[in-house]
Amino acid sequence: MSSMLSLQTRLFTIASIVVILSWAIGGGVSATAGWATAVICLALLLVHQLWHASKLSKLLLSPSYGEVPGALGIWGEIYYRLHKLVRSWRDQVLEVEQQHQRFIQAIQASPNGVVMLNEDDQMEWCNAIAGAHFGLNPRRDAMQRITHILRKPAFVQYIVRQNYRDPIRLTNMGNFEEYTLDVQIFPYGDKQKLILSQDVSQIEKTDAMRRDFVANVSHELKTPLTVLAGFLETVQELDLNAEDRQRYLEMMNIQTGRMKTLVDDLLTLAKLEGNPEPPISQKIPMNMLFARLKLDAEGLSQGQHEISFECLSEQSVLGDEAEIYSAFSNLVSNAIRYTPAGGRVMAKWQALDEGVAEFSVEDTGPGIAEEHIPRLTERFYRVDRSRSRDTGGTGLGMAIVKHVISRHQGELKIQSKVGVGSRFSLVFGKQRLAH
Ligand SMILES: Nc1ncnc2c1ncn2[C@@H]1O[C@H](COP(=O)(O)OP(=O)(O)OP(=O)(O)O)[C@@H](O)[C@H]1O
Ligand SMILES: [Mg+2]
Repeated sequence: MSSMLSLQTRLFTIASIVVILSWAIGGGVSATAGWATAVICLALLLVHQLWHASKLSKLLLSPSYGEVPGALGIWGEIYYRLHKLVRSWRDQVLEVEQQHQRFIQAIQASPNGVVMLNEDDQMEWCNAIAGAHFGLNPRRDAMQRITHILRKPAFVQYIVRQNYRDPIRLTNMGNFEEYTLDVQIFPYGDKQKLILSQDVSQIEKTDAMRRDFVANVSHELKTPLTVLAGFLETVQELDLNAEDRQRYLEMMNIQTGRMKTLVDDLLTLAKLEGNPEPPISQKIPMNMLFARLKLDAEGLSQGQHEISFECLSEQSVLGDEAEIYSAFSNLVSNAIRYTPAGGRVMAKWQALDEGVAEFSVEDTGPGIAEEHIPRLTERFYRVDRSRSRDTGGTGLGMAIVKHVISRHQGELKIQSKVGVGSRFSLVFGKQRLAH
């Protein structure tokens, strides 16, 4: 207001000076000439003011930022002040825009899906993760009612029921990848809603694995326990002669042995998972290890197989001897147990190219069909359950092998052909080898 007043005052002052000067100049000649000069000067001043007023009006209608029109006196000041005002507004708008962008980037970086709904449950915005989780397209689906684009009955019921205290779990979500999601709605503002989604596919998988594991362990223990209970009942209730009694006791012994093996294997796995990586300071002499493995193999085979053990490399493995022995011995015992009598089993320790070395066990057994091979290292996975159980297997051996080799930064390779035989090998890298 004060600047407006000063503007008017200044205009009035300029006009007065012009009139007085014109009158003074004109007055020297005649009074009429004085008045005429004053009128002409005032008219010129008015034209000047009108010209700038129209220029200002045009400028306000279509402002071109950054340009300050040049003008003398009061109009120059007006343009300059306007320019300053616009610049400060523009800076403010830019700052708000940047803040908005940062906010959007932060939500985009979130590992959770975010969908914003207006008061009519229409989608206003969603981040890329929500797009992937729900199969939404932020542009195509903008302002669509959410229940039209996300039609899962469980979700529709959740949104209709309006009880958003707990999240809901939605399975088989996503277009390109399959997700299991925990989804929760959070009302905010004026009847708006925020939908948050969290990918729990991995948690769900781990839960399923844990459930399977417990079921498998219980099942594996249940069978020998049931058999054992039956034998016990027989021994208690029947009046058996010494020979029968001995036979039953031996059968009971086999069942307890099976349970003990299972528990031992489970403990080995638990230890492998919980222990720190094996040291690289311990050198495992392969000659001695091979001698031990060979003795075990011969004991297991009872002369039914042609067995050969060749230690062709001087290199030693650096790591945990007990772990390495248990992995090698499982591969050897598998080869013997699954290869019918008369077959061949060949174990080898040899150097390969590029400084790596390999322990391999080859057999002329039944071989394994391709579809089973990737699953062999799963706990309790057996190609032929009844056969494996007959040979005393718990289905944990290959899981132990896989753990041991990955703890030694090595690689397990399996090649097999049904009806021809199998080749299992463990490859160790330079960092785990020494001469
Ligand atoms: N050399 C092999 N020839 C044919 N099948 C094999 C061979 N080695 C493993 N398998 C198959 O792979 C399955 C998994 O082997 P794994 O060593 O994990 O378990 P297992 O031998 O049954 O029991 P465990 O080793 O715990 O006593 C076996 O049950 C068997 O069906
Ligand atoms: Mg085994």
